[in-house]
Amino acid sequence: VQRNFPIKRLSLFASARSVGKSLEFNGQQIPIQEATPSSVSGHDIVFMSAGATRSREFASAALDSGAIVIDNSSAFRMQPDVPLVVPEVNPDQMGAEHSLLSVANCTAILLCTAISPLRQLGRFDRLIVSTYQSASGGGAMMMEQLKLETKAALGGPPAPDSTLQYPYAFNLFSHNTPIGSDGFNEEECKVIEETRKILNDPGLKIAVTCIRVPVLRAHTETVVIEFADTAPTVESVRNVLSQASGVKLMDDRVNNIFPNPAEASGQDEVLVGRIRLDPSNPKAIILMLCGDQLLKGAALNAVQIAELALAKRFQA
Ligand SMILES: NC(=O)c1ccc[n+]([C@@H]2O[C@H](COP(=O)([O-])OP(=O)(O)OC[C@H]3O[C@@H](n4cnc5c(N)ncnc54)[C@H](OP(=O)(O)O)[C@@H]3O)[C@@H](O)[C@H]2O)c1
Repeated sequence: VQRNFPIKRLSLFASARSVGKSLEFNGQQIPIQEATPSSVSGHDIVFMSAGATRSREFASAALDSGAIVIDNSSAFRMQPDVPLVVPEVNPDQMGAEHSLLSVANCTAILLCTAISPLRQLGRFDRLIVSTYQSASGGGAMMMEQLKLETKAALGGPPAPDSTLQYPYAFNLFSHNTPIGSDGFNEEECKVIEETRKILNDPGLKIAVTCIRVPVLRAHTETVVIEFADTAPTVESVRNVLSQASGVKLMDDRVNNIFPNPAEASGQDEVLVGRIRLDPSNPKAIILMLCGDQLLKGAALNAVQIAELALAKRFQA
């Protein structure tokens, strides 16, 4: 509705658990149907966001029925024939012929949206990224767990057991995805691989540490960008970011006003600030970003991809 997306008919799907429920859209109650290969077939555009297993189960039926499939899971992101598009960054990765389109990992989308414009200043050599990721990245259940644990810690009723290894309220911990033999967790690997694919820079050096923090909705990242041959200035970085699409500069040193997840929540733009030169490397800049990973990190990016796909088809 907000983007005036051209919807003639909207069908909603979830698991069998949700059959009987409905959601309001544009003043109308729309019943939730069970997702099956046949029920998701016969639509023009199918958005999938029920995990990689479900995406693998349903995508081919939807594609075979002629739909454009926009998939929010990790199932197809690294397939060479599947575009991984952040519309402000790499719209040309998608052509009119592509029907299966992946939405990247939320942390990678926010990172690429914020830093990609700075490639005007020079080639990146290396990124050092630290994340402060909110509960919403783990889905609705994790947000609920954080609320219940916080109430319990403040004297409320005990919270139910969770699958998390650590207490969540008033705590933070290494991202709760499985860890590989190299010590990196799945989230960190996704950020590295997907950032290289989105920026079309397979050799880009990236060191990343992903941390889950007790924030409900928006992710925060700190980034050191080391340029190959450029010594950037704070003014040049501010100048580029103040004109970049999808980015809002928030960098007021005098009043200590910088990106924060409370302010990023509900906003389409990625907030960027705390821009500083790196005293340990004249070719590097340090910055901080916050973005609503339910919007730009997921749903908004998916809708922007759909808009781009329609535009490419109508142009073709
Ligand atoms: N969280 C994020 O911001 C984010 C960002 C980027 C990508 N993603 C990806 O999006 C996917 C979903 O994440 P989420 O955070 O939205 O999780 P979530 O809040 O737990 O929601 C999962 C959704 O999947 C549905 N579902 C589960 N099993 C199903 C089945 N067998 N058939 C049909 N639908 C089923 C659920 O329906 P019921 O309510 O009926 O169970 C629910 O609507 C994951 O692949 C995740 O990696 C998430």
